[in-house]
This record gives sequence, structure tokens and C-alpha cells, in this order.
Amino acid sequence: MDELRTVADLVADHLDGIAGRPVWRPVPDEERAWLTGQELPETGRPLDELLADTREHILPYPMGNGHPRFFGWVNPPPNRAGVLVEPLAAAFNPSCAGGDHAGPHLERTVVRWLAELAGFPHTPGGGLLTSGASMATVICLAAARQRAAVADGWDVRRDGLSGRAPMVLYVTGEGHSCLHKAAELLGLGARHVRTVPADEAYRMDVAALRRMIAEDLDAGLRPFCVAGSAGTVNSGAVDPLDQIADVAASYGIWFHVDGAYGALGVLAGEAAPHYRGLDRADSLALDPHKWLGVPVGCGCALLRDPGAARAAFSLVPSYLVDDNAGDLGWFAEYGPEQTRPFRALKTWATLSHLGRRGVKDLVEHTSGLARTLAAMVEEAPDFELLAPVTTSITAFRHIPHTEGRTEERTEERTEERTEGLDALNRAIPYAVQARGNAFITGTRLGGRDALRACFLHPDTTEADLAVLLEEIRLAAKDL
Ligand SMILES: Cc1ncc(COP(=O)(O)O)c(C=O)c1O
Repeated sequence: MDELRTVADLVADHLDGIAGRPVWRPVPDEERAWLTGQELPETGRPLDELLADTREHILPYPMGNGHPRFFGWVNPPPNRAGVLVEPLAAAFNPSCAGGDHAGPHLERTVVRWLAELAGFPHTPGGGLLTSGASMATVICLAAARQRAAVADGWDVRRDGLSGRAPMVLYVTGEGHSCLHKAAELLGLGARHVRTVPADEAYRMDVAALRRMIAEDLDAGLRPFCVAGSAGTVNSGAVDPLDQIADVAASYGIWFHVDGAYGALGVLAGEAAPHYRGLDRADSLALDPHKWLGVPVGCGCALLRDPGAARAAFSLVPSYLVDDNAGDLGWFAEYGPEQTRPFRALKTWATLSHLGRRGVKDLVEHTSGLARTLAAMVEEAPDFELLAPVTTSITAFRHIPHTEGRTEERTEERTEERTEGLDALNRAIPYAVQARGNAFITGTRLGGRDALRACFLHPDTTEADLAVLLEEIRLAAKDL
């Protein structure tokens, strides 16, 4: 297949040329029309034509996350080892539902490695790869829901939820939306997701958690799970996991940790103490397609009890019975997916290529950048740091000179000015993105519109941080 050689060149040219191109640019109207409006061809088109279309209409419009000055959301560049093996996974094309072939066996190793890196206890069967952390969260919370029901003498899979005391989930306002989606999907009801207050560093207030659980018990509800964050998406905060584990243990409820983005932050020397208690969780969601840069999509659900996910999902019809599956059965019994892609190959390649040392270096380098940006922000009179840095995210905002930030001026600041700053900082991300030299996204933090920069790229340098601040200033001038 000569076309595969062409693809190899396209991939190499794309990766090698990224740093020299704009970080991002809008898709022009005519290209959007091409991308969205094509008719299904009546007869098949030759492969070389498809590659020409890809080169002309698709590759010029990336999301931007391959570039060292992409700081948006939580989207890393692809690790090259992961890229290298992706075509092989497609050519191999197994379903990793289960069975005796390379895919499921390799997945067992990869899951074990991820648990080892995060410092999470692992027993074979205690985890599986998923599409991302959203699906991992569904799996973990389903396991928690089933365990709570069984502890109360019923079976949520058989009986459904109706007529039972509502199950309650606890999470701070900084918890990721996937926790809310999972709760809704699992039939818990959005109103049974409690927002636990957070402190000024955006970490869960554990005394409040304890109070809220006690109140819900008094009201006849069924607290079943508390979800702590090991790296929030807004500011990278890590909840006091050890204290949360104490509360969960004292009430006998499931302790889930959302470490989708930040679990591997535990490898950075300075941050490690913040993760104390992570190893006491019942489940951990961790995304290889975040900090590690495994090509999208690959998440991972890790569960302390290797039987917990299976108890929530196993359903083996006669046409899937495998008498040779061994004690662990099939991965498809541990989650909702039946046909499962070969996610393990790109994850194995990435981890093997980096090694433990490489992962640690990556985490330390990017966390260091976040701290350096925070220091630059604190030194600059026209920026304000909005949260302490724990992982590789810096949350801040732009305060152009006229606003200043001394005590007196802060007190003087009228509501109108606050609204003005909010509007400015809300507008800055797109204005910066459109200039093409850096990519940043925004959020609301502590009731204010904020900018946040997430560092995941191994090639980002301190010089790129200076470019980012300058780009923000320049973009803001035109707003
Ligand atoms: C902290 C956190 N949790 C969960 C998720 C959801 O993960 P995914 O997008 O892989 O489903 C994200 C995504 O950015 C995240 O940052």
C-alpha cells in the first residue's frame, strides 16, 4: 500500500511543522462548508484522492494542541510513540472485549502500570481502559451505586432505583461536569449531587462534607459516594484526599477520586504531599490522553476491589460465553462497552517510550512552568493570580494598568469595574486565540471570570510564558 507511505510522510510533516505554524486559526467559511456539507459519494473514491483532500481541507485546521504554546483546557500534544503505533492498532483491528489475543493481555499490563504510577493499589481485574474519564467515572460511580445497594440488601441492577432512599453524591463546585453527568445518567438525580463548599485554595471543606452527610442521613437520604479531585480543571487544586478518606471510612461510603487530569501530579516532588490519601480511594479515574499525551481517546478506571466494576456490569449472553476466559473474564464485563478498541497499544507505547523517569520529568517540567507563570503574574502589575499552583495549571486574570491592584484601589473598585474586568477576561481567550500566537481558555473561578493556562507540552519553554502574557496584553488592547 503506497498510500501508507504517503500517510507516514504526512504525519511526519504535520508533527515536524507544528511549531512553525499558527497555534490555531478559524476554519474559513468555504472550508467549513466543505467539511460539513459533503454528499455521500455514490461510488467509492480512490485512496490517493482521499489523502489529497485530507492534506488540503483537514490538516490545515488543527485544534492547536500539538503546539507548544497551546494552553487551553486539558489537551496535550500526542506522544510520538503513541502516534507511531496508531496505524498498527487500526490495521490489527481487534475488539478488546476479551479473549486470548494480544490486546486484552497488553491492557492488563497498561492498567497495572497506570496504577503503579499513580500510587494506587492494584489487583488484577481492578481496572480497564475507557474512552476517557467521563466513561471511567460512569463505571466507578455505577460500582459505588451497586455496592451501596447491596450493602442495604437490594440490587440496583434488578430493582432499579424507584422506591428507595435517594443516593447522594458529594463533590465541590470545582468537581468536573462529568461527575454530574454520570450521576444523572445513573438515575441519581441532579438534585442529589451536593455541592460541598471549598476553601480559598479551591479544596474541599471536609468539615462541611461531614456536616452535609450527617444532615442527609437525618433526612432519610442515602449518602453513597464522595468524589474528591486530584487536579481540578479550573485551577489544578487537589482536595484533601486523606481527610476525605477518613470521612468516607467513618460513614462507610465510597471514595472516588477524579484524577483524570492531575493524578500523575503525584510524581512531582513538590506536589506529592498534596496527594496523601489517594491510595485510600475506592476508585480513581485517570486519563492517559491528558498529561501522558496518549493520542485521544484513552481514559482509565481503576478500582480497589477488582470485583466491583464486574458486579455492576457483567452480563454474559450465551453467544459471548468463553469457557477459557479464566478468573477475570472479559473486559466487556467491567463496563458498558462491548466492542472495545485497542487502546492499550498506544498507551503501552507511550509509557514504554517515556518510562517512569520520562513521565516524572514531564510532570515536573510542566508543573514548574505553571509555577513560573504564577510568579511572573504576581510580579506583573497588570495581572493577578487567582489560585495557588499545585499541578500544571495557572489561574489568573488580566487587570490593565488603570485598574491597579493595591489594597485601596481594590476597596474602591466598584461593581461596574468588576463587571468590566469580568467582561474583559471573558473576551480575552478568543482574542488571543485569533491572533494565532498562543491559545488560552477561560473559566469562572471564585465568582470571577478567569484565564487559565494548562501546561502539558514537553517542548514549552519559559520564553513561551512571556509570549503568552504579551499576547494577552496585546489582545486586550483591541477589546
Ligand atoms: C478534571 C477532569 N475530570 C474529568 C474530565 C473528563 O475527561 P474526558 O474528557 O476524558 O471524558 C476532564 C476533562 O478535561 C478533567 O479535566
